[in-house]
This record gives sequence, structure tokens and C-alpha cells, in this order.
Amino acid sequence: MNIFGQVKIGYLIAESNKFDEWIDFAQKCLGLALSERTEQHLSFRIDDYQKRLMIVKGAQEDVTHLGVQLANDAVLNEVLQRFDTRGIRYQQGCAEDAAFRGVKAFWFIRGPKDIQLEIFVDEIRSDAPLETKVSGFYTDASGMGHVALTTRKPEKMIRFWQEFFDARLTDSVEQKINGVILDVSFLRLNERHHSVAVARTRGNVQLDPIRTRVQHVNFQVLELEDVNASYQRCKDYGFNVVWDVGLHTNDREISFYVASPSDFEIELGWNPIKIDEQTWKPTKHTSISVWGHKPRKATPIHGILHEFGNVQRGLKSLKRDEYSPI
Ligand SMILES: [Fe+2]
Repeated sequence: MNIFGQVKIGYLIAESNKFDEWIDFAQKCLGLALSERTEQHLSFRIDDYQKRLMIVKGAQEDVTHLGVQLANDAVLNEVLQRFDTRGIRYQQGCAEDAAFRGVKAFWFIRGPKDIQLEIFVDEIRSDAPLETKVSGFYTDASGMGHVALTTRKPEKMIRFWQEFFDARLTDSVEQKINGVILDVSFLRLNERHHSVAVARTRGNVQLDPIRTRVQHVNFQVLELEDVNASYQRCKDYGFNVVWDVGLHTNDREISFYVASPSDFEIELGWNPIKIDEQTWKPTKHTSISVWGHKPRKATPIHGILHEFGNVQRGLKSLKRDEYSPI
């Protein structure tokens, strides 16, 4: 059974103690709709799904859970069977946790880089109007957006998505940053150019200079104007815009990158290409952007986090092991 095209990113959970900053950032600047606020968590919507981004109170300042939506029970059973075959232990989440995620039921494993990987079939929808500063977000068959991760175990991470979710390689980018060659593999699960991007440094030792498990999360807005207006709001609020507006070489998305209050970045973009499975051939690009995406003056801490070429920080990462389920 091939499940390509029946898999999409569904939701994300991050842990943070900076609730006020997250509301300013996600709601007031990027236009996500704050739908719930308690002492313990925040929930945001971007479409008629009840939940898409949840922030849970805690000190990690990082992404902790990734929800992947499967088309139906047959696909769910197929993925669970693949976990069984590979000896990967999974559990079903409890009803309370499912409700918190805005899904009817979910199953989870300890995923690559220690992100809890969760799979579900049925989302819970909201019929409340979406109150947002932007025209809207594109999700549909493409899912919530994409995630990009740096890794010291690129082969394993890529294999994970291929083996359990039938991911396909869309293309790759090789770029030199501060003398270090960075290779990025773009994996698709459906029509979206990529749902998961896997980045690693080239050389005998694999470096991972990024503190957070996820380097960036992408949301796709409906209008180009949304990109520019959100970019301006981020600057007005003093959030750290890391890369100015630019056009990506491979997915042709016009986007900018801004550091979230928890340091991992959000890419807000418009109009990435969709892949035609009949004609697409994977290619290799030597630049990440056609124009723009210029790095802006970073704060010292962010400068370190964002520099893929910061070898000292990268070397520190050698000391910590990176978890992989396979
Ligand atoms: Fe991206």
C-alpha cells in the first residue's frame, strides 16, 4: 500500500513561558487567530480546524509535538503496522489529550530529534468565524504548512519519512554559508512542494548549530500583500526579522523569516508551487533564493542561533546525542 498524498502536517505544539509575547507575535503580527487562552495553554487557528498551533506553559521554548494527519483508517492502520514491523512502540493518546489537540483520536511515538510524532485521522472543526489580520491561510490538501529541521542524522531522518509516510524527494539545495556547505533535502508528502525540509552540514562530522528541535515552521498566506503587511507588523512590534522578504529558488515561495518568542523561526509565505506527480523530476539547486531573503541585523543570541556556519556552537552539539527511532 502506498500512502503518498494521504499524509499532511496537521498541528504543532510548542512549550513556552512567554504567553504575552506569543499572542503579540502570532495573533497581532502574523495573523493567526487566538482561539483559546488559559493559564496553561494558548491555541491558535488558521482555518476551520479547531486547533493548529498550541503553546503549552513550560520552560523548553521549543517545538515538542508534531501532529500528522492521515486520510483515513486504512492509512492509519498501515502506518501503525509499519511501526509494529520496525519494532517502534506507539500508544494511543487519552481522550483529554485528543480534545486538547482538536482531534477525535491520536496515536504517538517518540519521533526523530525527540519531537513527539502524533498521527490522527479526524480533526474537530470550528464554525466560529476566523478572526485574522490576513486574508487567510492556505491549508486544504497541502496541510498546515511545512517544518524544517537541522539534523546530525540526515539519512535516518529522511528514511523515517520515506519508510513510514512514503515521502518523496522533491529537490535539494546545496549552499555555502560562512565556509560551511549546507545541504537541504525537501521532502513532500502530498501536493505541497515540501512538508519536511531536512538540513545538514557537509563534512566528516555532522554539526547541528540550532538549539531548537525545529529550525522553522512555515505558514502559507493567501495574498502577497499578507506577506508584506505581516513583515511590517513584525518589524513594528520589534520582533526579530531574520531574513527579509525574498523568493525561494525551488518552491518559488515569496516569504520572510522571523524569530518566534521561543527562538525557532516562522516563515510566512505566499504561493509556493504545487507538484505535478506526472512530470516532476527532482533537481539540485545551488542557491536557496532567487532574490531577497537577506539576513537582517540580528541580536547577538539570535545571530548565534541562526548561523549555520557557527562552528563553535556546532561542535557543542557533538556532545549531545540526537534521538532517532530507526
Ligand atoms: Fe521554509
